[in-house]
Amino acid sequence: MHAHVQEPSDRAGLFITLEGPDGAGKSVVTERLAAWFVDLGVAATIVREPGGTSLGEAIRTVLMDAQQQHSGPADALLFNAARAQLVATVIQPALDRGSLVLCDRYADSTLAYQGYGSGVPLDDLRRIAAISTGGLRPDRTILFDVAVELGLERRRHGPDDQQTRFEDDRRHDRAFHERVRSGYLAMAAAEPDRWRVVDAGTSLDELTAAVKAALGDLLPASVGEPRGTTVRTG
Ligand code: TYD
Repeated sequence: MHAHVQEPSDRAGLFITLEGPDGAGKSVVTERLAAWFVDLGVAATIVREPGGTSLGEAIRTVLMDAQQQHSGPADALLFNAARAQLVATVIQPALDRGSLVLCDRYADSTLAYQGYGSGVPLDDLRRIAAISTGGLRPDRTILFDVAVELGLERRRHGPDDQQTRFEDDRRHDRAFHERVRSGYLAMAAAEPDRWRVVDAGTSLDELTAAVKAALGDLLPASVGEPRGTTVRTG
């Protein structure tokens, strides 16, 4: 298997991913960014992982089943199967059309959760991701960083308190979330050109402004479709 790593210059569109814990505000900020892209006249395709395709949604249902206990490698392979389908059928075609693609979670989530969190070797996960993504890497990844205690607190009491297996799972104790957080910060530090870290412990308005600022140098250049074609999946 050759992992052809696509550099951003290989393609017309712009690929942005959002990472960080549940409860950090990614969903609300995604909604606001969608409106911002429309204002800017930037065609955007907005997706989330796992999901965004019928296979991905089916895998999401399996992954979120609170009755199921999966091993770390099983989870990693399931997330990557969903990712493979999403890249092949949604993300890559949209980038080829010149669209901006905003993805709520991507391959870095697997490194953070199954790798740093659950102990699956990072090199193994990178090889799997090379297969599932075809080497497609984001132009920019925003890390929504928040203290573990605050993130957990928001998840317990937040308005969007839909329980997922992950949030509910007793195996995912505080130490797990600390490993995920420091894993994310280590990845951001190792690749500073791609990553921007925003403080998700602030208000949603401040957070949204910080995320826009972290994307400002990429916009609105290099996106080519006419306005009004925002596509939402997942
Ligand atoms: P979800 O309810 O979608 O959370 P969020 O809205 O915060 O993204 O649940 C996704 C969960 O799946 C989240 O806890 C992170 C986890 N996850 C992994 O463990 N590995 C992965 O590769 C991905 C994409 C998500």
